[in-house]
Amino acid sequence: MNSLKDPDFEHTGPGRPAGHLLRQRWQPVYASEELEAGRAVPLKILHEELTLYRGEDGVAHIVAGRCAHRGVLLAVGTVEGDCVRCRYHGWRYDGAGQCVDQPAERRSFADKVRIASYPVEEYFGFIWTYLGESPVPELPRWPELEEYGRFHVIEHRKWNYFHDLENTVDDVHQYWVHKTGIYQDDGNAGQIPEMSAELADFGLTQTSTFSNGFVRRLALLMPNTLYFNSGAGVLRGFKSFLWNVPIDDENHMMFFLFIAAHLPPDVGARLAAGVREGRKYLSQLRPVDDIIRAVLSGRERWEDIEDRPDQVLIEDGVVLLGQGVLPDRSLNRLGSSDAAIILLRRLYARELAAIEAGHPLTKFPTPDAAALTRLDSSTP
Ligand code: FES
Ligand SMILES: [Fe+2]
Repeated sequence: MNSLKDPDFEHTGPGRPAGHLLRQRWQPVYASEELEAGRAVPLKILHEELTLYRGEDGVAHIVAGRCAHRGVLLAVGTVEGDCVRCRYHGWRYDGAGQCVDQPAERRSFADKVRIASYPVEEYFGFIWTYLGESPVPELPRWPELEEYGRFHVIEHRKWNYFHDLENTVDDVHQYWVHKTGIYQDDGNAGQIPEMSAELADFGLTQTSTFSNGFVRRLALLMPNTLYFNSGAGVLRGFKSFLWNVPIDDENHMMFFLFIAAHLPPDVGARLAAGVREGRKYLSQLRPVDDIIRAVLSGRERWEDIEDRPDQVLIEDGVVLLGQGVLPDRSLNRLGSSDAAIILLRRLYARELAAIEAGHPLTKFPTPDAAALTRLDSSTP
């Protein structure tokens, strides 16, 4: 159902209003450094099966997931020059999806065969694509932030993407869920903040005010980009972005980007390299998903969650998957501390209703770096 009363935030397949909304923007899909030249990988984004490959010339391309001949996943094929060749019978496609070779056909009809292809950009360490209609919009860029050190974290989460959008603008949960207090310092630890939310031209802001005057802000850039610069905790000073990108209705990817704009570029770059090393260590630990499911099934207790650097992902995971993979939000009983969530749902409901009615969508301008800085948290 799509209406202002019971909007369908969660379903993002082609033809669904929320799917249409998210297709209006470029989405990050992969880490640039993890795709070497000559490699192809399968991707699924917004329900679309895709093939991401990097040509031997270093240029990344995204084409349809399957070969037009008999439907084999192209990602198991080989990259040749700037093309990908299907493993099954050798049909070869260029980066525009045009078939350019059919080795077993006596009379090639390759010029009549074309699979889908999508625009690709690489920026801030991610590969991005745009799955919407033409004209293709500009990829949002923040040139002032490009020189700083940065690191990213990419997580596959096995529940609907809307949980994570809501969770990030819900600062009350920090108190109850994150006992280690990743956003807390002496000044604001152990306090439930006063919550408020406001509409902005780019989407909305959520403000948490603590009794000592510490003010933490988060911004949602419609439809699925979150920005925050925490004034406290381990991420203090980092300009932090998060894109929640649906894989399908029951899975999504979280692309976090942390930019060390508070540090000289060389210091930030060294710090980011250290964090990248640390992530290798994390990849050897027990999978986050295992722990989340063990706690939710009652086999392990919340109190048993061991201290580890990515504990925040486990803690959030328990309360997010704890709502169900694809819950019925119309049953929720929201209160005054849910101000940002109420606003987020209203914004989505408005855009989804416009899509259904065939009306133009709101143009949400992307704030520039100076405008982002005005959204940063402030310490007393
Ligand atoms: S299925 Fe791809 S070439 Fe036959
Ligand atoms: Fe959290």
